[in-house]
Amino acid sequence: MAEKVILPAKVVPHNTPAYQALVNHYQWFKQQSLQKLFDADETRFEAFHLKDSDWLFDFSKNHLNEESLHLMAQFCEELELNQWREAYFAGGIINETEGRAVLHTALRAKASSEVFVAGENVIPKVQEAKKALKGLVESVLSGDWKGATGKTIDTVVNIGIGGSDLGPRMVVEALQVYQNKKVNTHFVSNVDGHELWHLLQKINAASSLFIIASKSFTTQETMTNAQTARNWLVKQLGEEAVGNHFIALSTNIPKAMEFGIEEKNVFGFWDWVGGRFSLWSAIGVSIAFATSWSCFEQLLEGAQKMDAHFKEKDWKENLPVLMAFIGYWYRNFHGTSSQAVIPYDQRLHRFSAYLQQGEMESNGKGVDRSGKTIDYPTCPVIWGEPGTNGQHAFFQLLHQGTDAIPVDFIGVVQAQHNLEGHHDKLLANLLAQSRALMKGKTVEAVEAEFIAKGVAKEDYEHILPHKVFLGNRPSSTFLLQSLNPQTLGQLIAAYEHKIFVQGIFWNVFSYDQWGVQLGKELAGEILPSLEKGAVNTNGDSSTKGLMQYIFDHQGRGAL
Ligand code: F6P
Repeated sequence: MAEKVILPAKVVPHNTPAYQALVNHYQWFKQQSLQKLFDADETRFEAFHLKDSDWLFDFSKNHLNEESLHLMAQFCEELELNQWREAYFAGGIINETEGRAVLHTALRAKASSEVFVAGENVIPKVQEAKKALKGLVESVLSGDWKGATGKTIDTVVNIGIGGSDLGPRMVVEALQVYQNKKVNTHFVSNVDGHELWHLLQKINAASSLFIIASKSFTTQETMTNAQTARNWLVKQLGEEAVGNHFIALSTNIPKAMEFGIEEKNVFGFWDWVGGRFSLWSAIGVSIAFATSWSCFEQLLEGAQKMDAHFKEKDWKENLPVLMAFIGYWYRNFHGTSSQAVIPYDQRLHRFSAYLQQGEMESNGKGVDRSGKTIDYPTCPVIWGEPGTNGQHAFFQLLHQGTDAIPVDFIGVVQAQHNLEGHHDKLLANLLAQSRALMKGKTVEAVEAEFIAKGVAKEDYEHILPHKVFLGNRPSSTFLLQSLNPQTLGQLIAAYEHKIFVQGIFWNVFSYDQWGVQLGKELAGEILPSLEKGAVNTNGDSSTKGLMQYIFDHQGRGAL
């Protein structure tokens, strides 16, 4: 029986000597340019990159020097990050406002490890749950699992939203090279009926398996889609077919059973798995359906490798800590308001969308851990699209817009296709973009180009300022040797731990999400009016006006 994990003190970051030193450091540092840092030290890359067996993280194109890293390490010490990290991995109740541990790391911990929640080692039940999931996946992929008419399953539909969709969907896309040919995996998240309707046109009820993925099993969007899918299936195959075509992934077993899913087909997890960190739990089963159980295990192993890195490495060599500090440095000192994440790999096209929930639902908070309103910036807006597509869309703003936006570039060294002439171009663009952001293009350089082309001064001087790039825009580059379940697991876990560290830097509770409640409550109040076709008289004039417009154009008549 393990002892209760005692949480360390919640040190206010702004009151630490390291924070004050960072304030002074920034005053000096803001006079520096990235290009000057590179000019002053030809080996700058050596000092400001990290390498592991599967990846390299280059953070040399950031406004940092040795002193910055020294102060970062001091900041971590003064915030007692070490103790917080121990509490995080050991099942301390760090999600205080919901009274929960935060233990997605236990889902990928070695079977021999011990992690206690309320005095119980949770690892055996994690292993047991995995065994059941493995059995499920193998029975579907082997063809043993039969639909109500005796057909094998060739279509799996994950119905879920937020954390019950974004993580598995992103991973299934990313691991497309590993997809099996036995089942097609689809995801439906939006309550907008177009999504489900469109899918239902294409699939065959007799060979489809619906996975209702919802931690709470009460989420309006998921329950609506689940019920519609159920009605659609029952209409074709009858009520008794539900058992063969629906399974649930949830912590709310009674609710799933109420829906009509047999207990043996409800695959559970626990309240200490946060929705946005749940892809390692039963919620990730669609990944195994799309690929194989072994791929899913390798994904977990990759994440476990990053957990070990995060636990063991010194602050200055600790990837998630560096990522967290770089983000904090820009947001809270340089005053940036957004962070772009640009994967130069089409398979990672859902990665930024996934991270938006991970980072913004976690650290988009305005009250600190003592309940006080915060008067400093917390989580920036996270956004991004794959390169090179983004280059032809929003990169103009990254290069010449008025806001400096730090970028995380993610690249994959080895392609897993055999089309000639693509991958070098992709990587050339990746390398060029971070260099262009950093280096810029001076007035002199632009002028020299005009002169070299023989353009007269009176013909170029009005265009010249528009062709200048200020440069000095920071970025980090993450290179994976290849994109496989192991490396993807490491990448995701690195960002998860970045979120944890930034929560300590910002002194916020990262693992609740009360901010999503109000909209849900108001939707609940508004829905009856829409269903009845009668404007809710309690609303504000804007909401009433919008509702009236909806009614008018639905042909429902006047108020
Ligand atoms: O609305 C926010 C949220 O609670 C997320 O945190 C969560 O991932 C999502 O809804 C879905 O919740 P559930 O898995 O309970 O349906």
